[in-house]
Amino acid sequence: MGKKVGFGVVGIGNMGNSHVISMNILPHTELVAVCDRNPDAFNKIDEKVRAKIKCTTDYEEFLQTPGLEAVLVAVPHYDHPDLAIAAMEHGKHVIVEKPIAVHKAEAERLIAAARKHPELIKSAMFNQRTLPAHVKLKQLIDSGALGKIFRVNWIITDWFRSQMYYDSGDWRATWGGEGGGVLLNQCPHQLDLMQWFFGMPKMVSARVCIGKYHDIEVEDDVNAYLEYADGMTGNFITSTGEAPGTNRLEVMADWGRVILENGKIEFKRNEIPCLEYTRTSTKSFGKQPFWDCSVNLPPAVPGRSGHQLVIENVANAIINGTELIAPLEEGINGLELGNAILMSGLLKQDVVLPVDSAKYAGMLADLVKNSTHSRKVIRQADNSSFSSSH
Ligand SMILES: NC(=O)c1ccc[n+]([C@@H]2O[C@H](COP(=O)([O-])OP(=O)(O)OC[C@H]3O[C@@H](n4cnc5c(N)ncnc54)[C@H](O)[C@@H]3O)[C@@H](O)[C@H]2O)c1
Repeated sequence: MGKKVGFGVVGIGNMGNSHVISMNILPHTELVAVCDRNPDAFNKIDEKVRAKIKCTTDYEEFLQTPGLEAVLVAVPHYDHPDLAIAAMEHGKHVIVEKPIAVHKAEAERLIAAARKHPELIKSAMFNQRTLPAHVKLKQLIDSGALGKIFRVNWIITDWFRSQMYYDSGDWRATWGGEGGGVLLNQCPHQLDLMQWFFGMPKMVSARVCIGKYHDIEVEDDVNAYLEYADGMTGNFITSTGEAPGTNRLEVMADWGRVILENGKIEFKRNEIPCLEYTRTSTKSFGKQPFWDCSVNLPPAVPGRSGHQLVIENVANAIINGTELIAPLEEGINGLELGNAILMSGLLKQDVVLPVDSAKYAGMLADLVKNSTHSRKVIRQADNSSFSSSH
């Protein structure tokens, strides 16, 4: 069986509890401790498991647990940087749930702290990077098989959430508790994938709707237009109010059109690259001939969720230096993209990237200060601290 890495999970909510179960299934992880500010959270854990591990509301005590080598941070987003930094300062490897922070300045602080610990493995929980269709699309793009990409369109509206979901936690969908809505909670996966596939845009222009479908003070509907330095353009459309929703990524490239939908890739491949055909065709209304190509996806790993693959990957990185699927440092890009879209939508202005992180932090701090939402959890957006509970 080989070595097992001693893992701890902080934040035993919906996601943290699922990670706890995974730690007990995976071959190279051993759960040694859990931490939650609410002791009732520990009741979710199987009694037999609980009897063997440390359960504590005190993060410092958690970090002192004998055998603890790596910490998975699964608390609400504002506390991700502080808890991850404290873990690294105690010599622990970290996996940080998405988004790695609420705004770019906080991600910069987290990454600066991570760079002080080159001896540690630091990962973000971008489990969607492991999906076979995403792995394949990344290969197609990076190998040059699509040629120059002209336009990308992502409609990701299948994140439907009910009012009850938003009411299930007082941190949810508040500026002070979560720092945003669909861009901060549901879409960090697609925002990460956007930058993983296509890099970062140079400009974003967006419209966002606050509480269009729900009684919330943050955005639940977004239309964004993106411009890239090489002339590529993008559209990113998301919502938590539409049902049935769509999850469709369309990539228009010189060698044809790729559609990623329902976990499959459809590739209509031009016989001649589009730009060449445009230049050389002798027909005024000619249509570019293309082939319908079947794209074989890499096999899914049986019996493993994407989250489990990321945890397993981190355990393997700790044990034998396996390359990370989702290095922590890359987590700043999707976050910056989400911040840029939100800023553009709220200010009704184009936002040029890189985002001015101090300006964004100031804008968010004002939103937190002026929040009148009854369920708000007041946090200083530009000076977050978790000391209240630890
Ligand atoms: N990767 C994914 O697919 C995925 C899916 C869902 C949630 N998440 C992320 O996981 C995180 C948690 O989401 P959730 O839905 O599990 O939330 P949740 O509200 O269900 O659980 C959060 C838990 O953290 C505890 N907590 C809060 N602050 C704490 C602190 N400072 N110290 C210790 N415990 C603390 C709470 O008591 C609660 O038990 C969020 O950042 C979310 O974005 C990721």
